[in-house]
Amino acid sequence: MTTVEDKATAAATGASATERFRTDKAVAADTSPERASLLAREVLEAVHETIRKHNVTYAEYDALKAWLIQVGADGEWPLFLDVFVEHVVEEVANAAREGSKGTIEGPFYAPGAPQFGAEGTLPMREGEAGTPLTFHGQVRSVAGVPLANSTVDIWHCDDEGFYAQFAPGIPEWNLRGVFTTDENGNFTIHTIRPAPYQIPTDGATGAIIRAANWHAWRPAHLHLKVSAPEHLLITTQLYFPGDPHNDDDIAAAVKPELMLDPKPTAGGVDVQYDFVLDPA
Ligand code: DHB
Ligand code: FE
Repeated sequence: MTTVEDKATAAATGASATERFRTDKAVAADTSPERASLLAREVLEAVHETIRKHNVTYAEYDALKAWLIQVGADGEWPLFLDVFVEHVVEEVANAAREGSKGTIEGPFYAPGAPQFGAEGTLPMREGEAGTPLTFHGQVRSVAGVPLANSTVDIWHCDDEGFYAQFAPGIPEWNLRGVFTTDENGNFTIHTIRPAPYQIPTDGATGAIIRAANWHAWRPAHLHLKVSAPEHLLITTQLYFPGDPHNDDDIAAAVKPELMLDPKPTAGGVDVQYDFVLDPA
């Protein structure tokens, strides 16, 4: 039997995520020497304090070095950082917003997905496995005004937990698309329900998870970027009630406001969720 671990190898997933980051995101932050010094010093002090508090040994120090080298060799820095650090960056970045809650982007966004109007079906393979899911809603401002021509960019994994362009063997734009809301701010997306996702267990991130006896799961989720002219873009995820990992997401990215309310239909499931955007 092929298991999740066999297929989503860290080598394939990590390397693609690193390549993607280099292409889309790598920026030199405009950081003053004072701020760089402050942040670097405080992070290092936290490390020093942990070493003293727990009497860290040379063997443990060398294990850390070996592990850090391996994270880079596996191309897993995007995975590792988005699982264990990004949620706090998101919390700080969006603390002042009044509109819908955001959460982490994760390492698997790809800009430039196929475009749709207000309603459409995401690209999928012939006989794509999974429960058919219809996801519809409205985009509006914090003042309650429907936002026509908003962009709803959606991506999610398949019924086995794999993302196109990151796990091997999946068509480029599978389960990825960009929708534009109609004159009432509404959109309707036909897709399949994503599966829970396990971060690759065969690479360096998996090694620390195993060494610590943690689990590697994220609950099933839809990823979204929603934007409109003169409003702040929101990056978020939506979750399904009853998923065993909603309460212990390895990436700590679940919030109560992001829980869907799925309604069974004849052929699958229907979910409705509205997005409220803050002014820019
Ligand atoms: C990771 C994967 C995800 O699908 C996600 O939403 C967040 C993080 C990861 O492997 O790092
Ligand atoms: Fe994800």
